[in-house]
Amino acid sequence: MLKWIGILALPLALCAQATAPQAAAPQTAAPQAAASGPNHYVGSAVCKTCHPDVTLNFYKNPHYKSVASGKEAPEKTGCEGCHGAGGNHVAARGGKMTIPHAFSQMTPKQVLDDCLQCHSKDISKANIQRSIHTESDVVCSNCHSIHKPATPKFLLTKVQRELCYDCHQSVRAQFDMPVKHRVNEGAVQCSDCHNPHGTFASTWSTGLNSRMVDQSPGGEEACVKCHQEKRGPFVYEHAAIRVGGCETCHSPHGSMYSKLLRRPVVYTLCLECHNGAGSGVSAAGVLGQSSAHNMLDPRFQNCTLCHSRIHGSNSDANLLR
Ligand code: HEC
Ligand code: HEC
Ligand code: HEC
Ligand code: HEC
Ligand code: HEC
Ligand code: HEC
Ligand code: HEC
Ligand code: HEC
Ligand code: HEC
Ligand code: HEC
Repeated sequence: MLKWIGILALPLALCAQATAPQAAAPQTAAPQAAASGPNHYVGSAVCKTCHPDVTLNFYKNPHYKSVASGKEAPEKTGCEGCHGAGGNHVAARGGKMTIPHAFSQMTPKQVLDDCLQCHSKDISKANIQRSIHTESDVVCSNCHSIHKPATPKFLLTKVQRELCYDCHQSVRAQFDMPVKHRVNEGAVQCSDCHNPHGTFASTWSTGLNSRMVDQSPGGEEACVKCHQEKRGPFVYEHAAIRVGGCETCHSPHGSMYSKLLRRPVVYTLCLECHNGAGSGVSAAGVLGQSSAHNMLDPRFQNCTLCHSRIHGSNSDANLLR
């Protein structure tokens, strides 16, 4: 008996939303017919009856905009824009299996498709279908929470670095090293260098694509957004950068060594390629140094003392100035 009252009360509530005078409630509502008939859109106002907490918070959500505008079709707006037509769900008085898109029941692929209905333009720019996150079943709802976001901007489940550290434990330790980008201090963010949605194949090196290191359309690495003086193009470039990117010589997260270098002493880094022995081979041949260099003279070990334009020079082929 109680159950029936409930069912009848609901269309009443809907009616109250739609038409001002609610005295003459229609007695014609036929819940069973609705439940077995084809599914249909009912509008966001209906959901409020049973999901007040979710609905009352929703006006703050960027997804509320289209509701407020009142201009969009129901399948593109409000609750049903993401959860699908609610007709059967309402008629059945709830249930996980009656709402077409119940996120707790969806596969990662279904979540992706749901969100990409509307975000394919902005997000697919990032090659998300082929990103290593997507391939590892890490999808939108792993990082974004629509109803309980920890950050108002971008609707993240947690503050960005904590979100990323949850799954990338070893990276946390790297940002605690003596020399580091100050991510933990809030000066730099993971997304300054990475696009968690994915990236297109890199012109810097094939390895970088899988690391989702962000790049401009011109193939420029994210680093030069902030380190503009390293951007080039230089009249005399250091081919090491073009071939392997900045991380050939730097550990981008953190390092024990000054200037985030991969080696404690600069010349050991240079000699990995400029050893004259063939282990550093370029298209031009074996990389040596000048025959004028006397490696027994300690002065010559401080390579960047003389080759101060190590990232490229506009005036000297030997990167001396
Ligand atoms: C932009 C897509 C989107 C819109 C719009 C949306 N939801 Fe959700 N909803 C989700 C996702 C994703 C989840 C899974 C939990 C989460 O990420 O917060 C969810 C979970 C839920 C849940 C179950 C879990 C919970 O938090 O209680 C309910 C109920 C729900 N939504 C109702 C609604 C209602 C009502 C509206 C309209 C006011 C709405 N949703 C609008 C995406 C959306
Ligand atoms: C008559 C009450 C009622 C109305 C109206 C209603 N729901 Fe629900 N809904 C429920 C109940 C009850 C559950 C819980 C099901 C469970 O946990 O088994 C639920 C669960 C959900 C879930 C969670 C599914 C999951 O992931 O577990 C979503 C999403 C949802 N409703 C969306 C909506 C939307 C969108 C509307 C409006 C179109 C709506 N509901 C209207 C009663 C209602
Ligand atoms: C029915 C269309 C639609 C669907 C489906 C949809 N979105 Fe959105 N989303 C929008 C619109 C419109 C905006 C607001 C854009 C703006 O303000 O410019 C938005 C904004 C966002 C933002 C906030 C961007 C910011 O700048 O803060 C995030 C994050 C987001 N959506 C994630 C999701 C996720 C995750 C899903 C799937 C659960 C999803 N969206 C599904 C239409 C949609
Ligand atoms: C691995 C975590 C992760 C996944 C998976 C993910 N996002 Fe994001 N998303 C983020 C982070 C972090 C930001 C904030 C980026 C920033 O600070 O610039 C963001 C930003 C956004 C934005 C706003 C800015 C922009 O780039 O346009 C939208 C919209 C968005 N995400 C939607 C989605 C959708 C839709 C999906 C699934 C198809 C998704 N995201 C999957 C982490 C993720
Ligand atoms: C839910 C878990 C999860 C979250 C959250 C997450 N990731 Fe991932 N991420 C993965 C998995 C799984 C892979 C696949 C490779 C692996 O196992 O390391 C991956 C791969 C990556 C890679 C490429 C690693 C490689 O070896 O090629 C980068 C870069 C990355 N994530 C950055 C981020 C950033 C930045 C964030 C935060 C915005 C983030 N991830 C959030 C699970 C996650
Ligand atoms: C200053 C730019 C920068 C920042 C900030 C940054 N990364 Fe990276 N990250 C890179 C580069 C470049 C690589 C590729 C390194 C390589 O291939 O040797 C990389 C590699 C990775 C990898 C794969 C290799 C590994 O070390 O496991 C993961 C995972 C990763 N980053 C996650 C993160 C997370 C999580 C954050 C934020 C807490 C973050 N990164 C912040 C530039 C950055
Ligand atoms: C969002 C801006 C930003 C991006 C992107 C960025 N950096 Fe930095 N970088 C900084 C700032 C700020 C410092 C100053 C050091 C500090 O924060 O203490 C710095 C310092 C450095 C240093 C010098 C460290 C020292 O001890 O003097 C190196 C080397 C460096 N970055 C390399 C890179 C590389 C390589 C990349 C790309 C993988 C990169 N940066 C991307 C902002 C950025
Ligand atoms: C061939 C190795 C190599 C490559 C590749 C390289 N660097 Fe460096 N970088 C160095 C060395 C060596 C130093 C330290 C110079 C010194 O001690 O005088 C340095 C210092 C720096 C510094 C701090 C001092 C300064 O000059 O501002 C920044 C920032 C930096 N590099 C950014 C970058 C960026 C961005 C890239 C990619 C565009 C890059 N590096 C590629 C070798 C390299
Ligand atoms: C990853 C390999 C690699 C590393 C590490 C490296 N270089 Fe190079 N370097 C090259 C290549 C390749 C060229 C271009 C040679 C050519 O075109 O014949 C080059 C060119 C040069 C040149 C210009 C000479 C010329 O013929 O163009 C100088 C000077 C130089 N490197 C100095 C250094 C110093 C100093 C270091 C250490 C800070 C260093 N390199 C680290 C690969 C490397
Ligand atoms: C005292 C200054 C000085 C120091 C220190 C120095 N160089 Fe040089 N280097 C030069 C000069 C000057 C030239 C160009 C004239 C020449 O060929 O002798 C040169 C030329 C080069 C060339 C180009 C050679 C060619 O044949 O095109 C390379 C490569 C090079 N140096 C690498 C290094 C490396 C690696 C170190 C550190 C182990 C180093 N240099 C230390 C002064 C120096």
